Formats: sequence, structure tokens, C-alpha cells
Amino acid sequence: MEMDIMEWVQMAIRWIHIITGIAWIGASFYFVWLDMNLTPPVKDGYKDKAGVGGELWAVHGGGFYEVQKYRLAPPEIPPVLHWFKFEAYFTWISGFILLTILYYFSADIYLIDRSIADISRDAAILIGLGAIVGGWILYDQLCKSPLINNQALFGVILFVLLTLAAYGLSKVFSGRGAYIHIGAMIGTIMVGNVLMVIIPGQTAMVAAAKEGKTPDPKPGLWAKQRSLHNNYFTLPVLFIMISNHYPMTFGNQYGWLLLAGISLVGVLVRHYFNMKNQGRAKQGFFLLPLAFVLFFLIAYAAAPKSSDEAPTEKISFTQVEEIIHSRCTSCHAAKPANKDFATPPKGLKLETPAQIAGAATRIRQQAIDTHTMPLGNITKMTDDERALIGWWISQGAHRDN
Ligand code: HEC
Repeated sequence: MEMDIMEWVQMAIRWIHIITGIAWIGASFYFVWLDMNLTPPVKDGYKDKAGVGGELWAVHGGGFYEVQKYRLAPPEIPPVLHWFKFEAYFTWISGFILLTILYYFSADIYLIDRSIADISRDAAILIGLGAIVGGWILYDQLCKSPLINNQALFGVILFVLLTLAAYGLSKVFSGRGAYIHIGAMIGTIMVGNVLMVIIPGQTAMVAAAKEGKTPDPKPGLWAKQRSLHNNYFTLPVLFIMISNHYPMTFGNQYGWLLLAGISLVGVLVRHYFNMKNQGRAKQGFFLLPLAFVLFFLIAYAAAPKSSDEAPTEKISFTQVEEIIHSRCTSCHAAKPANKDFATPPKGLKLETPAQIAGAATRIRQQAIDTHTMPLGNITKMTDDERALIGWWISQGAHRDN
């Protein structure tokens, strides 16, 4: 029996990561929505509660909900008070384990691309961890600087810094490695906000309220700023997490720029919904169409340019087979020779003529339009070989010699 235990472990952790991530981001979306939809309390005797700043009614799952938000704290802290933090922590922990298993244990295949930078495994891992920790420190310092008072400028500077980081990382890692590290940086900032600012702020508020003191409004304000940042980070970070299925993004020569563009689309969409929740959908009417147009412009710009130097004579399938066998089959075989794989990655076998010809479109996406395969160009595929396979595919991926 062949069993790739690491694949199962990986799948389980990925599963947990998605579950906790949904719980976290779902709760975060809900509370931002809640905050933006609160209306001043109606004073009709029954609702005349001191200290209530806003309220809202909702119907869901067969019942009515009445929510009231206190301006600072209720006169008495109720015995049962729900906190929201473990979703965030477990999302980060499971994400970090995944990052380690995939990108650090298998750095040679997933993180390093020797055709981009010939760095050692240790150097690559150090750069990766440095980016994640450094990203948090820099962001946190920016938040503590006067810049925080100018929301728009703060957003622009943060966006530029993250784009620079994406550019820098794309010069040392594989496209996919660079993307996942930007995702890990942003994810760490988001969890850092929860752990270091939002939760301590709430702890202080609760403690003050218990002692009957008026809580210092500052920590609450900081927490609010940070959760708003988290709110804008969510869509880009979710895109990065699914991007590894789409080599036309991270595999592009300008993958870092694509990442910036698509993140901007996410931020615009988020901004529209925030405005809508505040009843300002009319002023923000252009945001969704703008995001839509931008998305398609990016897709258009990212499209692979067809080369016009295609030869007129027919490529012989024997040549194609030779290239695939020497560059791909060490991994893509029923029994891979590469010791990192017990089974063919993604079930893709490239051994027989039928398997090779049958996978032509997938081969084009991964090895011609982008240089995602061979992973980390570990088998040293040349550009001429890629071009030849590309021509063979444009000639109909035939099996003639
Ligand atoms: C070092 C091992 C290795 C080599 C060499 C390699 N691949 Fe892969 N390939 C992988 C792995 C691992 C994946 C799965 C990547 C992932 O997790 O998304 C993969 C995925 C793919 C996929 C995507 C399958 C799918 O449906 O998602 C294609 C297509 C592919 N490889 C083609 C090739 C081609 C063509 C070559 C040779 C030019 C090649 N590979 C060389 C390891 C390798």
C-alpha cells in the first residue's frame, strides 16, 4: 500500500486553516457590517438605556435579534461575555504550519527557483521569516506614527510598501513563494493586530468597567483603526490564498505587479461595501465598475504574448517526448524518481505518449505561458525547449513524427 502520510497531514491542516479562517473573517465581516449599520437608539422608554450608542434589529435563522452597542461600557459587565480571538490565532498557527511544511521543508521545490536566484535553503527560509517579522514591525511602527491620522495617505504608503516587498521577494523566490510570503506577511499583520492591539485594548476596557472606572477611550480607538485595516486586508489575502491554483498570476514575469493590481481590485470592492453599509452607496457607485474594469485590464495585460517565430515545419513528437521525459517525468510518473513525491503530483502522469498529448493544455499553462513547471526549474528546462513544446501544442499536440 502506497500512502503519502505528509499529503494527508497537509490536507488536514489546510482544512483546519480554511475552517478557522472562515470563522475569523466571517465574524470580522459581521462586526464591521454591524458597526456600520447601527442607528442611534430610539428613545421610547423601553429602549432608553443609558450609554447605548447604537442599535440594530436583524432577522436570521428563525428569530429576531436586537443588538445594542454601548458607547464605552455597560454599567455592569455581564457574567457571560463573548470574545473573538481564537479563530484568528488558530488561522495563523495552522497557516504557519502549512507554510513550514510546504515552503520550508520542501524549499527546493516550492520556495526557491534557481533560474530566479540561486540561494541556499537556509538563506531562503531566513529571508522568508525575516519578511514576515519585519513586515509586522514596520507596519506597527507606521501605525504608531502621526501618519495614522491621515487614513488615505496611510493606505497609499502601506500599499506602496507591500508592492515593494512583493517586487523584492519576486527577485529571490519562485513566483509562488513570493506570493505566499506576501500573504503570510499580511496575515501576520492581521493576527498581530488582534493579539497585540485589539485584545489588549478590550482587556483594558473590561478591567476598567469592572472597577467602575470610565475606560480610557484611546485603546478602543486604536483597536478600531486596526480592525478597519484588517477589513481592507481580507480580500487581498484571500486572493493570495487561492492564487496558487492560478499560475497565470504568480507565474507571470510581472507577478508582483499583478498582485498589486488584483489586491487593489479587492480593496476597491471592500471599500464599496463599507460605503454601502454606511448608506453611502450612491457616492461609491463607481467603485464596483472600476474594480471590474481594472480586473479585466489586468487579465488582458497578463495574457501571454504569442510569438510569431513559430516554424512552419512540423515538430516531431519524439522531440517533445524526450524533453518531457527529461524535464517532467522524474516527478510526473506513477512512481516518481524524485524522492519528495510518493505519488505523481496532482495525479498528473507524463510517461506515455497518450498521457503527454492528453495533458497538452495543462502543460501549456504551467510550462509555456508561465514558467511554473518544472517546479523551481529543478530539472533545468531551457527556453528553447519551452518554445518547442509551445509550437507543438499550437500544431495541435499531435503524435506524429
Ligand atoms: C520537482 C517535481 C516536478 C517536476 C520536475 C515537474 N512538476 Fe509539474 N507539478 C509538480 C507538483 C508538486 C505539482 C503540484 C503543484 C501544486 O501543488 O499546485 C505539479 C503540478 C503540475 C501541473 C498542474 C496539474 C493540475 O491539474 O493542477 C502540471 C500541468 C504540471 N505539473 C506539468 C509539468 C510539466 C509539463 C513539467 C515539465 C516541464 C513538470 N510539471 C515538472 C512537481 C513537478
